Amino acid sequence: MTLFDDTATHLPSSHFIHGAARDEASIKKDRKAADENFVEFWAMQAKELEWRTPWTTDCHFEAPRAKWFEDGRLNVTDSCLKRHALGTNANKRAILWEGEPGDTRTLTYLELYQEVQKAALGLRKLGVEAGDRVAIYMPLVPEAIIAMQACAFLGATHSVVFGGFSSDSLRDRINDAECKVLITADGGYRKGRVIPLASIAHEATRDNCCPSLENVVVLKRIGSVDESNLFKDGGFFQTMSWAELIVEDAHDFEATSLEAEHPLFILYTSGTTGKPKGVVHSTGGYLTQAAYTFRTVFDHRKDDIFWCSADVGWVTGHSYLAYGPLANGSTIFMYEGAPMTPDAGRFWSMIEKYHISVFYTAPTAIRAFMKHGPEVPSNYDLSSLRLLGSVGEPINPEAWEWYHEHIGSGRCPIVDTWWQTETGAIMVSPLPSETPTKPGSATREIPGIKLEILREDGSPAGENESGYLVSKQPWPSMMRTVWGDDERFQKTYWSKFKGAYFTGDSARRDSDGYIWIGGRVDDVVNVSGHRLGTMEIESSLLNHPAVVESAVVSRPDDLSGEAIVAFVTLQGSIPLDKKLSDEVKAQVTKDIGAFARPADVRFVEALPKTRSGKIMRRLLRQLAREGVINGDITSLEDKSIVTKLLAER
Ligand code: WTA
Repeated sequence: MTLFDDTATHLPSSHFIHGAARDEASIKKDRKAADENFVEFWAMQAKELEWRTPWTTDCHFEAPRAKWFEDGRLNVTDSCLKRHALGTNANKRAILWEGEPGDTRTLTYLELYQEVQKAALGLRKLGVEAGDRVAIYMPLVPEAIIAMQACAFLGATHSVVFGGFSSDSLRDRINDAECKVLITADGGYRKGRVIPLASIAHEATRDNCCPSLENVVVLKRIGSVDESNLFKDGGFFQTMSWAELIVEDAHDFEATSLEAEHPLFILYTSGTTGKPKGVVHSTGGYLTQAAYTFRTVFDHRKDDIFWCSADVGWVTGHSYLAYGPLANGSTIFMYEGAPMTPDAGRFWSMIEKYHISVFYTAPTAIRAFMKHGPEVPSNYDLSSLRLLGSVGEPINPEAWEWYHEHIGSGRCPIVDTWWQTETGAIMVSPLPSETPTKPGSATREIPGIKLEILREDGSPAGENESGYLVSKQPWPSMMRTVWGDDERFQKTYWSKFKGAYFTGDSARRDSDGYIWIGGRVDDVVNVSGHRLGTMEIESSLLNHPAVVESAVVSRPDDLSGEAIVAFVTLQGSIPLDKKLSDEVKAQVTKDIGAFARPADVRFVEALPKTRSGKIMRRLLRQLAREGVINGDITSLEDKSIVTKLLAER
């Protein structure tokens, strides 16, 4: 099968349709309503949430500024927790959790609500108010969600930092948002090892490096660190354990009523320039679309056990662990560890044990499973599954078919969902009872979303013609700004085409109207579903004392989708050896995190540059990908460099 096979379609199986929450006709009704008036359609979805004060204006949009349900007031925890905890779902399981070592926990909606009240009251006692920022640097344990919801309860804007980020990255994020409190843990388990989060957090915050911090809260997960001593050396802020934070008598504590546009969270993501951007999301609009897409794309049934394998440190973990499922009163499963520890059957044993019915993961994980062969999942009972999802990067048709056949037994539809940190929630995806799927295509926009594909000059691309993927129409969960840098927001997303949000992706639309994502057209690479800016990695490489210049490109990789190749020039007399290559790679692990480590470091005499001194990454990309350089080199200043680069391979 070729990569772009427009004809290979899969229809939803009768097994799925038989048990589906929503049938084709009801989905078609959504499409019709949204086509007639997308703003009213979204307002209808917003009414599924709990509001303290109803709104009068559905949407006000003047590019790039969009406001949804602006004069309405709400608190997302009313929808995600309170209405379930104080209603018929009180004893329904909200979170099923298993740690990598095999320890387990279950929280009902009532218990979860109460835990959130206790943590929220604790934070309030530390002086946290609506509008303050709180950083969360946690392993994938229930307290990560409790902390997020506790912030939301107070109206404090949370900034979750993925536990794989380095101390430098954590420090930058705390400082950029001027966080008042940091919530972390003594550690988490991953790949059989302990990630010493508290020590990394200590490194990030020592010597008054984070002047805005007033309190650090440390959850005991591992039990190996005495958190009360760890942070006491500087005395720049107070430290306490999670147990000390919790206020037992909090059952009367009420969540704060907030404007719909109040910033619910900031999430940092990589872009084309060096510094990661703090993407800001709203309260009412964000939850409206997170909740609608959860129930529609994942065909939410009351008895579902939904497993999204993403970490809460990424947007997928925000929308499809912490917010969307809870707003619908769903039961989620959370697993702390990595897919291959202790063996390649770990995920399948979790599906069997917890009777997971809907499973949402990334293509990179699927490709890793493929490598171990279909015998591994065939040893487990996966019959509880009814629907499978994919997110984060294009899924190659081979991985799609493998997932469909060996995990879904041919009976589970696959929803390949396209969206971004900036879009807040799913934008393009099949709706499982309705949309015939084509492996490799995320199919069509969901109801209420309309995307366009444009040529460089802004005119619409033709059928099957690749162009820039944009939206001229606002959507409820769209990002509102870049934290502290609105100019950057306008420049990055709204300047390429007037009046349109530019996604940074290329795409084409086939004759059935299906969208085929081509990948990023900017300097963003996608390694194992993690978004990284090449400029970020380049500036990290320059921190190594031997490195003079660097250029980072990507090449395709069977497992991680893309892999990072760094071209590096060195100070005069430094001997080249494997040790130096490892050292240079380690610099990136130190500055950003292990997930950003280059796969290859190539030491070169010089980098190819134009006469105006710009590095011609295009040539390096071709060299890294195809092992040749035969593109247009007319603008290259020193043409002899091509021969040298080829010789150095
Ligand atoms: C890519 C993750 C193809 C895309 C939710 C996008 C995808 C970037 C898909 C956003 C998909 C995400 N098919 N490509 N189903 N999903 N992408 O911000 O390039 O981490 O722009 O959000 O991932 O990555 P982010």
